[in-house]
Amino acid sequence: MSFKAPSPPPPGRFPAHVAIIMDGNGRWAKIRSLSRVKGHEKGAETVRTIVRASREIGISHLTLYAFSTENWQRPSSEVAALMALLSRFLNSERAEMLENGIRLSTIGDVSRLPAEVQQTLDSVKADTAKNTDMVLTLALSYGGREEILRAAKSLAKDAADGKLDPEGVTEQDLASRLYTAGMPDPDLLIRTSGEMRISNFLLWQAAYSELFFTPTLWPDFTKEEYLSILNEYAGRERRFGKTGEQIG
Ligand code: FPP
Repeated sequence: MSFKAPSPPPPGRFPAHVAIIMDGNGRWAKIRSLSRVKGHEKGAETVRTIVRASREIGISHLTLYAFSTENWQRPSSEVAALMALLSRFLNSERAEMLENGIRLSTIGDVSRLPAEVQQTLDSVKADTAKNTDMVLTLALSYGGREEILRAAKSLAKDAADGKLDPEGVTEQDLASRLYTAGMPDPDLLIRTSGEMRISNFLLWQAAYSELFFTPTLWPDFTKEEYLSILNEYAGRERRFGKTGEQIG
């Protein structure tokens, strides 16, 4: 599929927070008789392209589903290769993130990641902590149900300890216990590779996100297609349950 090179969406009409389910690395590799790891490596190049494009456009939050809680069930050789690729990516992008005002953040149970990956994440997070132009959040060992369950346990504990009145629990009380506490909800959620599922990604946060599904496999996803999706997003009316007239 090819896309006319669109310009960025009009100011004020682009999403503050874009979340992406990067799918199709394995299929991309299979079509070419390459190993799945080669697909992930090509996928990492697309990550670089989309991070750069997001920063150029002025997206303030980009969240990428890099490794789900379910992905631990993949063959150990693939998991190890993904972890090594993540470390390499973080080290190679550190300078550019610093130069471009990008702050690295993570959501998910990163304590399950190999110690070396955790150390690299900690050091890049520390180096970029003061950056304010864009937040790049990697979802790592992330699962939406696990995240909500964790928040529910925290609420139950606070109620049992008498710190919280169960009757008075608000959405904000729960949201502030999610990994994404303090982040805006995603305005736009994109999934590549033609699958039309959310796959346990940002279940609470995506309640009102605009969804875009593209058949393009993640390694083939380009800046041009990204801009074309952002332009389509700019033309959508977001009603948040209200009528079109109420939105004006
Ligand atoms: C889905 O493709 C992709 C993943 C499970 C991992 C995503 C990883 C990357 C894009 C590369 C590394 C990430 C960073 C942040 C550097 P799949 O393997 O499920 O593809 P398939 O459905 O075609 O088999």
